[in-house]
Amino acid sequence: MDTSDSAPRLTRRSVLESGVAAAAVLGFAGRVQAATPPAATPPALSPEAATPRLPVTLQVNGQARPLDLDPRTTLLDALRERIGLTGSKKGCDHGQCGACTVLVNGRRINACLTLAVMHEGDEIRTIEGLAEGDQLHPLQAAFVKHDGFQCGYCTPGQICSAAGMLNEAKAGWPSTVTKDLTEQVALTDAEIRERMSGNICRCSAYPNIVAAIRDAGGAATRL
Ligand code: FES
Ligand code: FES
Repeated sequence: MDTSDSAPRLTRRSVLESGVAAAAVLGFAGRVQAATPPAATPPALSPEAATPRLPVTLQVNGQARPLDLDPRTTLLDALRERIGLTGSKKGCDHGQCGACTVLVNGRRINACLTLAVMHEGDEIRTIEGLAEGDQLHPLQAAFVKHDGFQCGYCTPGQICSAAGMLNEAKAGWPSTVTKDLTEQVALTDAEIRERMSGNICRCSAYPNIVAAIRDAGGAATRL
């Protein structure tokens, strides 16, 4: 311990003096804090005001559907939650299962991966729009005939995807299993499986799904 004269010495007087000084500083800080006005609280926005809306008219199954949408609304949510067409299913909402597949201008698309406002003027077709009155689409009839489903949750997406896929094959689009790029695409089971690989069936009804699509074949290419 340093006991030299240069070391600070604690005395009763020095302790009292430092306590008074500290109290004075704290009192001043408190007065400064009290004098600072509280930050203004921003006025609460109603949900409508907080979220901008966009007017958009979708053409769904041949009908004009005017909507007022949050621009972040996916096509799938617009179809299901706003229009009430619940045939298109939400399986993953991440583009991984194909349950939400619909046809846009004749081409298959995952409705969960696209925004509704991007499709003004497009011709959108869902599973509800495939049949003509009481006459089932050939793919729908083939799925019934071949028992191409169990729980049925994936089925609307499977059928819409198959309709788009058959058009792609008919147009000569090759897949990774197409052997001869100079010939018309032969609708083999391998071609069907590869081209339908984006549509998952949790019930594993795949053999019957492939049989139904093979059976419907060229007759279903009218979209
Ligand atoms: S819900 Fe769209 S791909 Fe699964
Ligand atoms: S029939 Fe159940 S998920 Fe395909």
